[in-house]
Amino acid sequence: MMEKFVIKGGRELKGRVKISGSKNASLPILFAGILSGELHLKNVPDLKDIDTSCKLLSRMGFTVERKPSEVLIRQGNSIKTEAPYELVKTMRASILCLGPLLARYGKARVSMPGGCAIGARPVNLHLRALSKMGADIRIDHGYITAEVSGRLKGVDITFDFPTVGGTENALMAAVLAKGKTVIKNAAREPEIVDLARALRSAGAEIEGEGTDVIEVNGVEEIGKIDYSVMPDRIEAGTFLAAVALAGGEVEIEDFPYEVLTAVIEKFEEAGLKIEKLSEKEVLVRKEGRLRGTNIVTQPYPGFPTDMQAQFMATMCLAEGISVIKETIFENRFMHVLELSRLGADLTIDGNTVVVKGVEKLVGAKVTATDLRASASLVIAGLAAENTTEVYRIYHLDRGYEKLEVKLRSLGADIRREKSELPY
Ligand code: UD1
Repeated sequence: MMEKFVIKGGRELKGRVKISGSKNASLPILFAGILSGELHLKNVPDLKDIDTSCKLLSRMGFTVERKPSEVLIRQGNSIKTEAPYELVKTMRASILCLGPLLARYGKARVSMPGGCAIGARPVNLHLRALSKMGADIRIDHGYITAEVSGRLKGVDITFDFPTVGGTENALMAAVLAKGKTVIKNAAREPEIVDLARALRSAGAEIEGEGTDVIEVNGVEEIGKIDYSVMPDRIEAGTFLAAVALAGGEVEIEDFPYEVLTAVIEKFEEAGLKIEKLSEKEVLVRKEGRLRGTNIVTQPYPGFPTDMQAQFMATMCLAEGISVIKETIFENRFMHVLELSRLGADLTIDGNTVVVKGVEKLVGAKVTATDLRASASLVIAGLAAENTTEVYRIYHLDRGYEKLEVKLRSLGADIRREKSELPY
């Protein structure tokens, strides 16, 4: 059954909200369970992408047990090293099983992830790294088939671009490789740090995570991974954007302050008040209209592309002009036309959008196109006059745990209803 959100805008947010565990940290750590054969992961968000990963692991022959915010994985008797099209199609991050399968079982057959709404998103860098480690890789019938005789070997890998998924795949493969792997121009995202910590807790020998050179001394096996996932920095940033649009005063708990500084600084530049109450809590307050502020998305520690749409939504009602430049993904401006339907004044020029702040947004029917774009439409709806209806919210359910429940607890008027449209 297709669902939509119905939002009556104009209510300020007030109260306290808790950030869930990180989706993008949970996914690679779940696949790291392939390396260890035993995993107990805590603070896991209840999301569609987590369901898909569990389904994939159980299809491979792992025993998967779910409890509220926990996942337990144990290796079964016979493992099928394959990720089929039906599952990979619904979640590109399934490609993260490739490195672990190859390292642990010497072979893998993974459906080639297709394009997606935010760009081509190839996996050539993942494949190049694994093939340098000794894997024989072929692509046929839409599948990546990879094999290695014996163990993968430790090598020097220099990425052309600090790819997040590519770094994760290479890192996981290197953990069980023979000898030392040095990953240069590695992605520095906090989720990679979380993955490295989880692996190290099980005996992996990793250094340098969080910098652009990661060194891994391969070991023959690792033990059980028992780990609690970091809070979701993008969900946390989205709540900042929600207050920046709807107004009000909100305390945010489990707020990963240290890894959100690029986002915090931009919201502060725009005039949002963000007060650190403790290591894990902030108070966010909006006083008066925000100012137009420019951003450029960059690899971490720069401004994250996953916050671009939500920041743009905020700037739609700010005073003056904001220039928003996207450098990570081509075609990640699908939300622009939808935000315009609410009355925003936006002009696209290549990888840049010029936002001219307007006095008000007015509710309309809008359609979500991808995960973060859907969040931008929901929070814009909180600030728009009258009613906004957001369709295709299955995108949102992939990445935000109980978003409407959390917003409602802060006083927003948002309901989930059956969609009258076929989507
Ligand atoms: C991860 C995040 C995603 C985030 C992105 C960038 C997960 C599950 N997803 O995605 O939410 O938006 O990081 O912060 O953690 N590229 C190639 N060849 C490759 C790999 C990537 O050309 O082999 C390009 C991509 O097309 C894209 C750019 O590199 O333009 C960044 O991709 P990457 O960092 O790999 O992002 P993901 O791991 O897919």
